[in-house]
Amino acid sequence: MNALQLIGLRKAFERGTPNEKLALSDVSLDVARGDFITVLGSNGAGKSTLFNAILGKFPLDRGRILLDGEDITRWKDYRRALNIGCLYQDPMRGTAPNMTIEENLALAYTRKASRSFFAVNRRDSGYFKKLLKDLNLGLEDRLKTRMGLLSGGQRQAASLLMATIAEPKLLLLDEHTAALDPATAEKVMALTRRIVAERNLTCLMITHNMQSALNVGNRTIIMDNGGIVLDVSGQERDSLTVPGLLELFRERSGKALDNDRMLLER
Ligand SMILES: Nc1ncnc2c1ncn2[C@@H]1O[C@H](COP(=O)(O)OP(=O)(O)O)[C@@H](O)[C@H]1O
Ligand SMILES: [Mg+2]
Repeated sequence: MNALQLIGLRKAFERGTPNEKLALSDVSLDVARGDFITVLGSNGAGKSTLFNAILGKFPLDRGRILLDGEDITRWKDYRRALNIGCLYQDPMRGTAPNMTIEENLALAYTRKASRSFFAVNRRDSGYFKKLLKDLNLGLEDRLKTRMGLLSGGQRQAASLLMATIAEPKLLLLDEHTAALDPATAEKVMALTRRIVAERNLTCLMITHNMQSALNVGNRTIIMDNGGIVLDVSGQERDSLTVPGLLELFRERSGKALDNDRMLLER
């Protein structure tokens, strides 16, 4: 059984107006359990919209979404959030800046444990402390620090822990290292790989960094104009270089991959 199945997803924004935009056009994707898929695409290609569709942020015009074989197409977003972890570029999205690291972790943990949010007992504190110690970021002694006081990298690391502590069926990362300086981005990326591997998570990661799109995970898709135009894995992907990837994209879509941030990094 697939961890995630997207069947013919279609979403047009501002339907029936002159601004109508087909953000997802017949997107289908089978994601195997343990797949770590990197997602590339020009600005406005529909990458974040695809994640939002999976998260249930809006009703689809057409299509079905299956998570672990269960049809979640009509599930409300908060119900999906119990099974899907997500992280964004802005580290404050999805965390409570005025709560301590410990409270944030407890809140994330409760999602699965379905205990009272306030029941952070000693054992949990010890458990959180151990998890933080494993991150090697000096966060283990800062359980009582408010999230808002951490550096960007520390916040993303803590957010990553929050997003995965309840062992979600799916982890969605939307350019979660894009706002960090290169050295910190690399650290958070290394941590991401470790957590995904150790917890055997199924993960989709949007990135504008083509090299890490090829280095990280086991499969890469490229979106364009609301659709998936390229899907590479296995040997084909192993032997692919960034110029090769760009060339392949040009062949399939008839144009160059164009993303402001990508251009900056080339
Ligand atoms: N809530 C929305 N309302 C109207 N248009 C939207 C909305 N969200 C996304 N879009 C449009 O859908 C297209 C895809 O956007 P998005 O998924 O954010 O692209 P990406 O993440 O690949 O850069 C863009 O043209 C964007 O302007
Ligand atoms: Mg986006």
